[in-house]
Amino acid sequence: PIWGSAQRGLFFVFEGLDRSGKSTQSKKLEEYFSKAGRPVKWTCFPNRKTPIGAAIDLYLRRQLELPDEAVHRLFSANRWEMAQSIVEDLRAGTTIICDRYAFSGVAYSAAKGLDFSWCQAPDRGLPCPDGIFFLHIDEKVGAARSNFGDERYENAEMQARVRGQFKDPRLRANVNWQDVNGARDMEVIHAEIRSAVEAIRQEDQVQLPWQQCS
Ligand code: TYD
Ligand code: MG
Repeated sequence: PIWGSAQRGLFFVFEGLDRSGKSTQSKKLEEYFSKAGRPVKWTCFPNRKTPIGAAIDLYLRRQLELPDEAVHRLFSANRWEMAQSIVEDLRAGTTIICDRYAFSGVAYSAAKGLDFSWCQAPDRGLPCPDGIFFLHIDEKVGAARSNFGDERYENAEMQARVRGQFKDPRLRANVNWQDVNGARDMEVIHAEIRSAVEAIRQEDQVQLPWQQCS
């Protein structure tokens, strides 16, 4: 009953290294909402279907070379392309579940040597998530799961650098960051995320989250 259309949707983001279980867990959370009859949309970044996303896709598949600074701005612009529709969905009462967001943007670019706060700047003002689930697995588990493809960044050296950047406290400052141990059984992880989601839902409904995200 509390889940009426008068209430805005919630915005949840999944972050982590490649193969940390983001896609599995974000889809499970989407399923949990839709089975409960709550309006929900799953999305991901990069969104390769937009014009800017098409350029990012070429870059990731190594068919386009770009300076690190330029591609960083494209990843951010790709979020700005979708920002309005995210806000509209939230206002209409739809919960958004998103696989990667600005936190990946900063961690991956900073891992290439770009200045951390320079990397944060272009995402300032984007809709701010109500909760960020950071799925972490230790290096050994990561190595056991790794089955790298051919895309850019899909190599052990880059993943190790990104892992280091995700630990930077500036990434989790002023946001609802939830560390989730991703090395456990899929259902156990899902149950933990579900209860965090319900707790956030209780406390957070009046706030307008999209107005600042630093
Ligand atoms: P994608 O393949 O969609 O994610 P996954 O590997 O989880 O399936 O993402 C492509 C890559 O883009 C991934 O290595 C992370 C990287 N990335 C950035 O460098 N900056 C960003 O802003 C985002 C969203 C992703
Ligand atoms: Mg990938």
